Amino acid sequence: MVIVSMVEDGTPLLVRYTGPVVSVSSDPVLLLRVDRDDPLALHEQLERRLREDVRSGRLAAGDPLPSTRTLAASLGVSRAVVTEAYSQLAAEGYLSMRQGAPVRVAAAIRAQEPQQPARSLLPRMAYDLRPGVPDLAGFPRAAWVRSLRTAWRDAPSDALGEGDPRGHPELRRTLAAYLRRARGAAADSEQTLVSGSFHETFSAVCRWLRSTGVRRVAVEDPGWHPHRLAIDHAGLDVVGVPVDHEGLCVDALAETGASAVVVTPAHHFPTGVTLGARRRAELVAWAEREEGLIIEDDYDGELRYDRGAVGALQGLAAERVLYLASTSKRLAREVGIGYALAPSWLTWPLTEALAVEAGGGGGVTQLALRDFIERGELDRHLRRSRVAYAARRAALVDALARRLPSARLTDAPAAGLFVLATLPEGTDDAALAARAAEAGVAVEPLSLHRYTAGPAGLVLGFAAEAEPSIDRAVALLADCAGGA
Ligand SMILES: Cc1ncc(COP(=O)(O)O)c(C=O)c1O
Repeated sequence: MVIVSMVEDGTPLLVRYTGPVVSVSSDPVLLLRVDRDDPLALHEQLERRLREDVRSGRLAAGDPLPSTRTLAASLGVSRAVVTEAYSQLAAEGYLSMRQGAPVRVAAAIRAQEPQQPARSLLPRMAYDLRPGVPDLAGFPRAAWVRSLRTAWRDAPSDALGEGDPRGHPELRRTLAAYLRRARGAAADSEQTLVSGSFHETFSAVCRWLRSTGVRRVAVEDPGWHPHRLAIDHAGLDVVGVPVDHEGLCVDALAETGASAVVVTPAHHFPTGVTLGARRRAELVAWAEREEGLIIEDDYDGELRYDRGAVGALQGLAAERVLYLASTSKRLAREVGIGYALAPSWLTWPLTEALAVEAGGGGGVTQLALRDFIERGELDRHLRRSRVAYAARRAALVDALARRLPSARLTDAPAAGLFVLATLPEGTDDAALAARAAEAGVAVEPLSLHRYTAGPAGLVLGFAAEAEPSIDRAVALLADCAGGA
């Protein structure tokens, strides 16, 4: 083995290693140097370089290293420096050191592949018409920063540690009052639970259902496909229940044998229909008869543009409905708070299931959200959003009528962050969405959210782009669809 060490001025100094028998196929070359001006201690410099050589494969499993004396002399450092570096690397498993034998690269070491450059799973596209994206550019940063600052200034020190697993009591009180007022919910702060997102609570409840012996959970068909993924991940069977112009078909639900059902009553994803009053009553009757659980996903309940928002189903049957919502559509995912209203009998098991995750919704952020709501900022932001979204929705509807007349909008109220456009029979909506992505327009195909075959379509978000961009995006989409 040949060691090339360098002294500070960079002059290479060749040191021939003549240790005991070595079984190396070729003569690896160690490029070692230490720099006395480097703030890092000499032994750490040596460790880093040797570690790097082992990782990259320049030093392979079984390669011998020079004795501490030889290397110390070649580098002009004390033997203690080399001994310390070798011992550290031996403790980490890179080198093996045995009495009377040369230090070697550990036998189990395999060179590591060079890393691929990091690749985003969500490439940024020129136009974002995905259905779940709010107007992130319109996020009320100044007001949020003010609430964050207040929360950091005033938070008691225990808010920085592990708090009540249900969430900070003050936020729970504020949320319960907000949900009574804004969503007509039967909210009690003792049964209000805070987490990091809708998903966190939903996954926790799925796991809890499974632990109680539940086997099957029903979802809307079509329905938001992450519902299906989360249920599936919890090891439960998922069964789709058709949705018509009044929402979930409760008769069909009754035939599934499911013990729980996930619904989006205020604004069905992805058709946009509202669960009608008759169906609401039927659904509650189903839950009472079957002792079933209704999981209400109220992801965008306050965002209604043609009339006042329809209240939460939970208000009708607080002991049968688990209400779930989050700040993702109302503000932004980054705020990172999910909240739930649990039936009294489910509050403790769900708290336990959430505590296992020890998940999101940090204490100070919770107090910031409380401040934000108490100051009226959430109401103000939602009022502004409703005006902006109504205009963007109108721009999308108009652009589709002019540029893609073959797309038919479902007869749904003006609400939420998306519209559903169905496409002529025989259209492959997934292929169209892929072509749109290549053209720089992000959309979701309806087939992604289906369990059974049905008409093709696109779920088109309108909240994230301003009106002129919506028009340009639809023009590109029309090109991809062949102009139709
Ligand atoms: C129907 C529906 N439910 C729930 C959520 C998710 O909320 P969170 O971001 O809090 O997990 C979304 C977000 O896209 C959604 O579209």
